[in-house]
Amino acid sequence: MTLFDPSAIYQRSECLFSEAQITAAIEKMAAAITLQFSDKNPIVISILNGGLILTGQLLTLLNFPLQVDYLHASRYQNKMRGESLHWLAYPKLDLKNRHILLVDDILDEGYTLVAVKEYCLNQQVASVQTLVLADKKHQRKAQENLKADFTGLEVPDRFVFGYGLDYQGYWRNAPGIFALHKDDDKS
Ligand code: IMP
Ligand code: MG
Repeated sequence: MTLFDPSAIYQRSECLFSEAQITAAIEKMAAAITLQFSDKNPIVISILNGGLILTGQLLTLLNFPLQVDYLHASRYQNKMRGESLHWLAYPKLDLKNRHILLVDDILDEGYTLVAVKEYCLNQQVASVQTLVLADKKHQRKAQENLKADFTGLEVPDRFVFGYGLDYQGYWRNAPGIFALHKDDDKS
């Protein structure tokens, strides 16, 4: 049996997007969000943990009145696969009649964003839009042609980590988006 070695996993991974490429994608999304939300006094909700880094970098590029909240919903619970969404924290602000921007790391099958969006709609929000750093290309989306309202990058159908995305709880801090080496991908 081989021991889980986070350093080795990082070393043999493949960098798909550098920090500079990700920054450019975030800047582009920030410009589009500014156009749509600058007069709407929105609530930006970070979906933890994956949305942590993206939300932080996005927020300082949004130069208009907004409030920030978070929710903690985890699908994978540090495992590669899992069906149900576990709610660990709900937003604290009153969402009623507010314009909401949900920020998450990746749109994979889409169950997370669909469920979180539905939660917001049940709070009688004025509107809810979604933003993801990465959209994974495959045919397994929860709803056909499911897309976030704002997408930073497209990633292939591989397990990726970095910039908020973890592999078994590690490397959310990796400065880019990296794909697991095939020998490490047990999904
Ligand atoms: P979905 O509900 O299938 O869209 O799953 C979305 C959530 O699963 C994301 O917010 C991530 O936390 C996690 N996830 C999906 N794909 C990956 C991946 O390639 N690497 C790390 N986390 C992932
Ligand atoms: Mg997530």
